[in-house]
Amino acid sequence: MAKVAVVTGSSSGIGLETALTLARNGFDVYATMRNTGKAGQIQEAAKGLPLRVLQLDVNEDQSVKSAVDAVLSEKGRIDVLVNNAGYALVGAVEDLAMDELKAQFETNLFGLVRVTQAVLPAMRKQKSGTIINVGSIGGRVAFPTSPAYSATKFAVEGLSEAMAFELAPFGIRVAVIEPGMIKTNFVSGIAMAKKALDPGSPYAPMLQKMNATIGPLLENAAPAQQVADAVLQASTSPDPEFRYLV
Ligand SMILES: NC(=O)c1ccc[n+]([C@@H]2O[C@H](COP(=O)([O-])OP(=O)(O)OC[C@H]3O[C@@H](n4cnc5c(N)ncnc54)[C@H](OP(=O)(O)O)[C@@H]3O)[C@@H](O)[C@H]2O)c1
Repeated sequence: MAKVAVVTGSSSGIGLETALTLARNGFDVYATMRNTGKAGQIQEAAKGLPLRVLQLDVNEDQSVKSAVDAVLSEKGRIDVLVNNAGYALVGAVEDLAMDELKAQFETNLFGLVRVTQAVLPAMRKQKSGTIINVGSIGGRVAFPTSPAYSATKFAVEGLSEAMAFELAPFGIRVAVIEPGMIKTNFVSGIAMAKKALDPGSPYAPMLQKMNATIGPLLENAAPAQQVADAVLQASTSPDPEFRYLV
């Protein structure tokens, strides 16, 4: 029987490539996204592959529950969960409104926990499973003007380390994928803190400098397929690493 994989944030970028790569390699894939109006690209690419699109907003309890219940009622199991959904909030700490910071944590950290909690009872019952959390190089080193994003990705590292210990006795493995610069819609999805958009912000020159640094780096960014390949390796290796730096 094919293994069942659930991927969050599959409408574009790393999630889209990961869902397709798992489907091409024998997994029954549930490519989840918050807005199924964006499913066209993956549905076109997945013709003939065992891939189904499901609505799942990692910020919404009911959406997460409905999606996980739907997978379990169809397949009775979930072998691989890829917690990929995320975005970056940009702005220096002093320029961050508390609601902007909370929204960043809601998706990148609490959303990951929400989906994980929904999937774990089934994995524990199976006594097997792999949870793959998409972190970031920004979860190893922090840069000025993206402190909120780094805080969420550092948190993903800590959470994942603890989870790996907690879940090993239940036969469940945990891995963290740490992408560097990858060509996706990530930059267009950046949320700018309102105060950071003010040219009078004391951090405006720093932000300009960061933007000028990141531009050329983006031109040399790696394709999302490289991250998808690391996820595939973490999902299929009999002896997976805990961290995959891409
Ligand atoms: N690209 C990079 O250089 C890079 C580097 C390191 C780590 N990462 C990480 O890789 C992951 C994927 O990013 P990407 O580069 O592939 O960017 P992307 O192309 O912008 O994809 C992000 C995905 O997350 C989804 N998403 C955002 N909020 C969501 C929510 N509340 N519920 C469900 N889905 C949600 C987006 O959905 P919508 O289409 O609806 O917005 C989209 O499908 C993120 O966790 C990111 O932090 C990326």
